[in-house]
Amino acid sequence: MKFRITLHFLCLAASVLIGLAIARHGLPKSWGFSRESKDAATGADEPAPESTGAALKRPRIGLSLDTLKEERWQGDRDMFVKHANELGADVEVLSANSDDNRQIKDVEALITKKVDALVIIPHDGAACAKAVELAHQAGLPVLAYDRLITGCDLDLYMTFDNVKVGELQAKSVADEFAKTPGKKRLVRIYGSKTDNNAFLFKQGQDNIIEPLVKSGAIEIVHEDWAQDWKPENAKKIANAAITKAAAPAGERPFDAILASNDGTAGGAIQALIEEGLAGKIFVTGQDAELAACQRIVAGSQSMTIYKPLKELASKAAEAAVKLAKRRTIFAPAELDNQKTKVPCIFLDVIPVTKDNLRETVIADGFRKAEDVFQGVEQK
Ligand code: GAL
Repeated sequence: MKFRITLHFLCLAASVLIGLAIARHGLPKSWGFSRESKDAATGADEPAPESTGAALKRPRIGLSLDTLKEERWQGDRDMFVKHANELGADVEVLSANSDDNRQIKDVEALITKKVDALVIIPHDGAACAKAVELAHQAGLPVLAYDRLITGCDLDLYMTFDNVKVGELQAKSVADEFAKTPGKKRLVRIYGSKTDNNAFLFKQGQDNIIEPLVKSGAIEIVHEDWAQDWKPENAKKIANAAITKAAAPAGERPFDAILASNDGTAGGAIQALIEEGLAGKIFVTGQDAELAACQRIVAGSQSMTIYKPLKELASKAAEAAVKLAKRRTIFAPAELDNQKTKVPCIFLDVIPVTKDNLRETVIADGFRKAEDVFQGVEQK
């Protein structure tokens, strides 16, 4: 009996000690349960902020953007800075205007300004590896925001499920095509080749489209990449597709445009407008830009993908503050960036059509009803 009581007591003591150890140091890596972002400076996990003193200083975060020319990135910047400030951090923002050399110089400037961590939205995912190396030489961790930086020892990547974006865009086209019999003609407008996301969107689209091409249900009549995601480049691609189809006046040259985001959709729709085809051809998008939501109400664009930027920006701000304080971050996923297995956090996305604008972008406060509907009477 005495032996059994002693044994119980020993077990209890042991489990308390283990519990305390896990709380303090997290689960041992060999157990493979949690993924922590690596601390750039040492490459090892760095749990104890108290010992670094970093906890006391008001963290400073450097935010380097590709561009602020698109509505989306202005939103990300504002929401990120707002949440970081609420967390007691300061943010230095620089935008590279889609110039790779400028972006490297921006990162050098932020390092010189003694920021504690860097958040980068790369113009060119490969060219930005240099920026990550410079940051690590200065002992700074780097979070890649929305777009992956490849070929470097990146600390953390936070984005949306970009493959799912492509799948949802392509599925909306396939569903539209399935409504009527006969082979369908599709134009594909991909994003910028410097942006790793453009390949993930295409991969998602291919998952749905390729089997239909193989079965002969769909023919790709024209496809191209829109440099720098510029609407004017997407317009040129749509113009080339219209010219190539050489359809008799008033006839549809093709049945749909699988555009990878709202900017490229807008450019393509401009080409359709000039040919009197707007609203007669199914067009996809992404980002739920205001103009795109208005086009969906007007009928010239058929759908978009809503990516809750507030969620990404606030979660990224929290992660950046933790990186700045050399705290541990739990990242449930990982992605190979051709150099290392990068800890990742992926967020979900929502398809939007004229039937669920209110339940999605408006309900979320991302868009105002009066802006989207512009007084257009809604059933
Ligand atoms: C992508 C981003 C999209 C899109 C595009 C153009 O990387 O995920 O939301 O807008 O860039 O900036």
